[in-house]
Amino acid sequence: MRERMPAGDEVHVAVAITGASGAMYARRLLEILSKSNARTHLIISAAGEKILKLELGAEPESLISDRVTRHHYKNFAARIASGSFPLSAMVIVPCSMGTLGAIAQGISMNLIHRCADVCIKEGRTLIMVPRETPLNSIHLENMLRLSRSGVTILPAMPGFYGKPQSISDLVDFVVARILDQLGISQGLMEPWKGMPDTE
Ligand SMILES: Cc1cc2nc3c(=O)[nH]c(=O)nc-3n(C[C@H](O)[C@H](O)[C@H](O)COP(=O)(O)O)c2cc1C
Repeated sequence: MRERMPAGDEVHVAVAITGASGAMYARRLLEILSKSNARTHLIISAAGEKILKLELGAEPESLISDRVTRHHYKNFAARIASGSFPLSAMVIVPCSMGTLGAIAQGISMNLIHRCADVCIKEGRTLIMVPRETPLNSIHLENMLRLSRSGVTILPAMPGFYGKPQSISDLVDFVVARILDQLGISQGLMEPWKGMPDTE
């Protein structure tokens, strides 16, 4: 059983944005993390940057703040690339099938893959938020392989039972699930209160 992030003291969290659809999830997660005890290390793949611009009309710089540091995805020498760096957790959101496949096969071609590889080898929390449909058997086998290595596969699949009124509500549904997995308290979604017994 992997430990959740410690509460209270400052913790380091890596967030990677890759070239899957869903940059809104990443932007919202960064916004919430920057109000928490997390110091965030942001890595954006080349495809991730393109899709960020396409979907949000945003430049990567708009995601940076005094609590969010950016590392270039090609910088293997970044301090977060080493197992000696006290990273508590990593979230890859949105996660492309390309990045998911590389990590599942242990291929470290960029800083995102490397950080994820380190999380797995050090037994740290790694959350991947894939977005693709339909999924082929290679995608599914890669996800199973990662899950068996302790990775949390948290698909970008918002629920509708809370009666979402906007795209923001749908985004918050997924981001709330990520924060729950990180052990960071969130007021984005009320816990499900159940339905009255019908029998
Ligand atoms: C507009 C657009 C949307 C895309 N959406 C997805 C997606 O939702 N899921 C996915 O796995 N790949 C998607 N792709 C393909 C990836 O961006 C592509 O495979 C890329 O090489 C991934 O690189 P990365 O994993 O290094 O970010 C999309 C590409 C484009 C141009």
